[in-house]
Amino acid sequence: MITLGIETSCDETALALLETRGSGVAFECRVIASLVHSQAELHSAYGGVYPSLAKREHGKNLVPLLHKLLIEASDTLDKAESVSPKEKIGIQAFEQAMETFRTEIAPQNPELYESFSNAGFLKNVPRIDRIAVTEGPGLEPALWVGINFARMLSTLWNVPIVPVDHMEGHIVGSLLPSDATNGAWQKLFDASMPMLAFLISGGHTQLVKIAGLGEHEIIGETQDDAVGEAFDKAARLLGLPYPGGPHLSLLAEKARNEGIAAPVALPRPMLRSGDLNFSFSGLKTAVLYAVRKAPKDADGALDPLWKNGLAREFEDAVTETLDKKLRMALDDTGAQSLIVGGGVSANRMLREAFTKTAAEYGIPVFLPSRHISGDNALMIAVAGALGSKEKAPMDLRANGTKRLD
Ligand code: KG4
Ligand code: ZN
Repeated sequence: MITLGIETSCDETALALLETRGSGVAFECRVIASLVHSQAELHSAYGGVYPSLAKREHGKNLVPLLHKLLIEASDTLDKAESVSPKEKIGIQAFEQAMETFRTEIAPQNPELYESFSNAGFLKNVPRIDRIAVTEGPGLEPALWVGINFARMLSTLWNVPIVPVDHMEGHIVGSLLPSDATNGAWQKLFDASMPMLAFLISGGHTQLVKIAGLGEHEIIGETQDDAVGEAFDKAARLLGLPYPGGPHLSLLAEKARNEGIAAPVALPRPMLRSGDLNFSFSGLKTAVLYAVRKAPKDADGALDPLWKNGLAREFEDAVTETLDKKLRMALDDTGAQSLIVGGGVSANRMLREAFTKTAAEYGIPVFLPSRHISGDNALMIAVAGALGSKEKAPMDLRANGTKRLD
């Protein structure tokens, strides 16, 4: 089975093609192609993701990205004989579909409709068996573009759509071996139940207990900012470009290597709350106050040593907080494996801390490899290939606040 994954929940436009065979323990997959077009640079001018810009960019990017994907995959995709959508679904259905796209999709996503209508390569139906698309959580206007794209392709190719939860994508993404993109057949890592998933991204900070297939329980989460958001806001206060998480982390590492101490002590929020919840807005405010009082040069630029020291203290505060709650969650759940997912799992210090903690608990930890830690469509394709809940194209809805439980 060949699955096309579509991801547009935030500021990455991503598509992937995945071939799978078998089910249950015999499930295997092979990455045919995976492309991510990041809009980060465009959004950096606004200091964060600007939803209507993200929506427009997804609309412009999806069709050209699909073209590129199909070219990359052309050796694998069967070219036996090319059939047009008109031949595939019949003239009447084709004309009806075009009318639906024009009246229901074009007004919502004019850029997408326009490029779709002009795409010559869409005159051939590729050998794709399933479409997996992110339905949420995320920015609703952005999610809708991916969904509308999936609807059009599904109708013209006559293939089913499986909606995928973005966070479920991050979970299964971490179970892909690191060399998954080498084109060989791969098994997913076998994580024992119950599993604990620690989801840390720009929009989420969640501890999820997974007792069995599809049995998710959110046992702890942030009450305000997500951890990635906190990284990005702190980085912005330090004058670093968006998304600031990786930049801040580099400064922190520099400070650690050079023995630069923390210039101020930042709080470790919620450590004594007695539950598994998080709060990062106070930490951000503490950074704001520290920056106000910090030594600056005549132009108002922060003293570089001070800045690096603060980045170090910020990363220490986040790491201590996340690691403490992780240990509490492992105690509470008796988890037999740990899965870490979401963009922030690229952070080196956190990876080291979680690896050490899992080793102390004697359980395996599954961390996403670099190419899959940020948003991508490969993880969506894997989740969609494993899933079975098909939805009729026009019944699909974006759900910006979708929850795993
Ligand atoms: O999962 P993701 O790509 O998008 C969302 O679904 O939110 O996560 C993006 C977040 C951003 O906040 C980014 O700053 C953060 O992940 N991030 C990092 C690092 N790399 C990415 N935060 C800290 N350290 C990093 N190395
Ligand atoms: Zn994400």
